[in-house]
Amino acid sequence: MSGTSYSGSGSVTVTLDGSNRTATLPLLQGTIGPSVADMRKLYAELGIFTFDPGYGGTAACDSKITYIDGDAGVLLYRGYPIEQLAEHSSFLEVAYLLMYGELPTPAQKAEFDRGVLHHTMLHEQLRSFFNGFRRDAHPMAVLCGVVGAMSAFYHDSLDINDPEHRRISAFRLIAKVPTIAAWAYKYSIGQPFVYPRNSLGYAENMLYMMHAVPAEEYTVNPVLARALDLILVLHADHEQNASTSTVRLAGSTGANPFACIAAGIASLWGPAHGGANEAVLKMLADIGHVAHIPDFLEKVKDKNSAVRLMGFGHRVYKNYDPRAKIMQQTCHAVLAELGIKDDPLLDLAVELERVALHDEYFVSRKLYPNVDFYSGIILKAMGFPTSMFTVLFAVARTVGWVSQWMEMIEDPAQRIGRPRQIYTGAPQRDYLPMSRRT
Ligand code: ACO
Repeated sequence: MSGTSYSGSGSVTVTLDGSNRTATLPLLQGTIGPSVADMRKLYAELGIFTFDPGYGGTAACDSKITYIDGDAGVLLYRGYPIEQLAEHSSFLEVAYLLMYGELPTPAQKAEFDRGVLHHTMLHEQLRSFFNGFRRDAHPMAVLCGVVGAMSAFYHDSLDINDPEHRRISAFRLIAKVPTIAAWAYKYSIGQPFVYPRNSLGYAENMLYMMHAVPAEEYTVNPVLARALDLILVLHADHEQNASTSTVRLAGSTGANPFACIAAGIASLWGPAHGGANEAVLKMLADIGHVAHIPDFLEKVKDKNSAVRLMGFGHRVYKNYDPRAKIMQQTCHAVLAELGIKDDPLLDLAVELERVALHDEYFVSRKLYPNVDFYSGIILKAMGFPTSMFTVLFAVARTVGWVSQWMEMIEDPAQRIGRPRQIYTGAPQRDYLPMSRRT
């Protein structure tokens, strides 16, 4: 934990039953949010650990970047509500905000945009990596592999103790990950790679690299570019979620940023995390028709089935995910722009949400739609295949990962992350020669 001094006072006293040994643990207070008991001296004073699988009640670090109040459905980036940023800001402005803590002045924004938008090309030899993958490789596998491979190409920015190296590698990641993502897609459909165009905005360039072909003119639809930019804003950071914690844990060892972000991408891929948007569309396709919703929800509620309502529930939000509301509105705007009047998947999703929000099972467990419930429908309407959904999420989250990684490295009190365990295996025993084993 950092050398930051925390406001607030008070303490928790822990007494070991059957002994007169006690430990007094200070209560730390951030700028907002609940108090946090400082457990650092617990083991030294009482010889006991805390047990918190899944870390639901554990603050693993302090951070100034993102705040979530899961009960109230509040999400703030550097203090600014996500609704305001979604309405007034843009992804690159949000990226600046997350990285540097303040909204940029016009001059700062222009310089930042130049730094990101002019470093979009990949080292030409990185191209060969794509050919090493099977054509049917999942683009997340390709993204993870090629981002990890960046460590082998950009040796001049690997010294994590040098602030200039950190800055350069951060820009390289934010600028080049969309190119890698687009090429992973192009490779999977057998089309030529489309090189980035630095005159385009961040989201525009992504649409261009993914959807353009050399044989034809391609004009980016500004409504779709704005929608994609908004999706990137909504996914840019989300506090200490699984993938961000993975990046911090990898980074705590001193690993280089490209390796750390590759680890974050791997963690994001799971269906309980970033893979949920892909899983939502698969679920909607499996349900097939509104008439099948009751049967499907019975399966979800059956304790003996592993079926979950994908896009519902969240470890932190016990209220409507504020991003899901914005996503739902965007969904309608995108479908209108594309002239899609009746989308059976959207109709199915709206009805599924309505039924679930009135069902005692979901109400009593405070399960609400999360950001992924509607994002897949938008992305599908925009022409992205389902396998690319989590890839686009990873592009957005790269900004959050990089910001969190930088914050951690710049903290002078940063230590290697090293959780403990309750050991439940065999007690110490002697080796038995094979001839004596029955
Ligand atoms: N469908 C059905 N039941 C659910 C769901 C769901 N989607 N989510 C939680 N529950 C139930 C659990 O079965 C449990 O019920 P019980 O108390 O009767 O045992 C209760 O709600 C609490 O659930 P937990 O598993 O303790 O919740 P946890 O915080 O561990 O899980 C998670 C959060 C992983 C997101 C979960 O809600 C889930 O699997 N959702 C579906 C996947 C998804 O949409 N993930 C995206 C998350 S957002 C993101 O990463 C961008």
